[in-house]
Amino acid sequence: MPESQNNFYITTPLYYVNDRPHLGTAYCTITADVLNRYHKLFGRQTCLLTGTDEHGQKCQQAAEKRGLSPQEHCDDMVKAFKEAWQELYIDYDIFFRTTDPFHKEAVQASLQQLYDKGEIYAKDYSGWYCVSDEMFYTEKDLIDGKTPDGKEVTWIEEKNYFFQMSKYQQALIDHIQSHPKFIQPESRRNEVLGFLRQPLADLCISRPKSRLSWGVEIPFDRDYVTYVWFDALLNYATGVGFQQPDRKSEFARWWGQGDPSESSVHHLLGKDILTTHAVYWPAMLMALGAPLPRVIYAHGWILNKDAGKMSKSQGHVINPLDLKDIVGVDALRYFLVRDIHLGNDAPISEELIVGRSNTDLANNLGNLYSRTSNLIGKYFSGSTPSLESVGGDLGQSESARSLQDMLLKTPELVRAEIEKFSPSRALEQVVLLLNQANKYLEETAPWKTAKEDLASAGQVLLLSLEVLRTAAVLLHPVMPYKMDDLLGRLGQAEAALNWDSLSKVPAIAAGTPIQKGEPLFPKI
Ligand code: MSP
Repeated sequence: MPESQNNFYITTPLYYVNDRPHLGTAYCTITADVLNRYHKLFGRQTCLLTGTDEHGQKCQQAAEKRGLSPQEHCDDMVKAFKEAWQELYIDYDIFFRTTDPFHKEAVQASLQQLYDKGEIYAKDYSGWYCVSDEMFYTEKDLIDGKTPDGKEVTWIEEKNYFFQMSKYQQALIDHIQSHPKFIQPESRRNEVLGFLRQPLADLCISRPKSRLSWGVEIPFDRDYVTYVWFDALLNYATGVGFQQPDRKSEFARWWGQGDPSESSVHHLLGKDILTTHAVYWPAMLMALGAPLPRVIYAHGWILNKDAGKMSKSQGHVINPLDLKDIVGVDALRYFLVRDIHLGNDAPISEELIVGRSNTDLANNLGNLYSRTSNLIGKYFSGSTPSLESVGGDLGQSESARSLQDMLLKTPELVRAEIEKFSPSRALEQVVLLLNQANKYLEETAPWKTAKEDLASAGQVLLLSLEVLRTAAVLLHPVMPYKMDDLLGRLGQAEAALNWDSLSKVPAIAAGTPIQKGEPLFPKI
């Protein structure tokens, strides 16, 4: 198997710096972090790239409003993004800034290469320009003189440079058709194929400096900067070495050598920016002679339960850090992964988040832990009995055998869902296991049996502890802080965070102290 196939490289979009992180941008970043941590747990080499999209008119205007230079404004916003991601336990490998000098050079090298190959040409151009979207619209795109989302446009006439995107239309259709997993979910793939049924226009990739100076200068015409999307999309490749002769092997490690099945690149993004990622970006890569990503996955929108899509321009944004103060970061991450089926839109509210935290975390997981640790404290002096002392086997009854069987099967079920970009279903598998374990405790009632038959109560508790250990490892990518805490209470060092440890049951050694401590997830 080529090395890149066992690698996992995931990207989030680069966020605009015209506002602070909010729950919409946090959602995408948390999801990417969760997927990345799962793949790492499966034993893969992984890389998570996130960052900021700093050029363009939006940023220039936001800086002007604050009386700062664009660079000062960006530096300040980058701090806010990095702080938010740290508070939300985002373990990124690369924080990418489009203003990094190496990136600008790589963008210029790409522009020059395309120009030299005749892929870019100059033309006088007129059209309706929307500052907020940084895009031109044609007359037929407009609805009542505004963009389809109701934003203002102005008429502009000027010379511009165009990338011959139309040339790649058929190759792109062929690629999407022969690679069913290239654009996901399926409904988005169909949407892109539908879009490609119309003739594809060439892409305007320049902006005259007289209108916009904050951008990457076009190397073959210094009066222009490049279109912010042309600059920003390239980050996914330049971030791991594209157009940098001294980083060739690093680039090949993540992008493969040409066959798309060798690529380890997974782009996660919102459905509103699917066209730029699934049409412009692959066409750019084809023209540059670079391999295509393996998966482009579009997630849905987080909707404010009452006010609709959260957006900066409409002011309906929820600060993720406010929610964190109510339920804690782990429970917030858990909610976003468990309750939102990746790809779908989802309403959220404080009530929904608190409800989920109470049912799955305080009740299901929390109860199993507190009951088990209390009973170990009461009847086994706070440490695990040996397997021999409880009869030499955890599967002594029909229900014990069925729980043990489920325990051993759950990790593979979780893995299969993660491989399918279905983290909500992966969590459901863990919830089913915990439900079953709580049911088993109810049925066997070790709090009663311990008085007459200590061995059988010990056997039940050992099996419960193994369920807790497995759940802690499987939930760790979603709730790293709380699951470290739980593993610590179960006497498991960091080494327990290992995929292979899940096939060994029991794994908790006899005599391991089990701490009771405060409730893991207090009921809210
Ligand atoms: N800068 C571009 C992306 C360039 S990538 C080379 C951009 N930035 S953005 O800050 O406007 O949006 C980034 C992402 O945030 C998009 O994927 C968008 O879908 C996501 N979200 C913004 N609001 C959102 C919600 N309310 N819900 C979910 N995600 C949404 O576009």
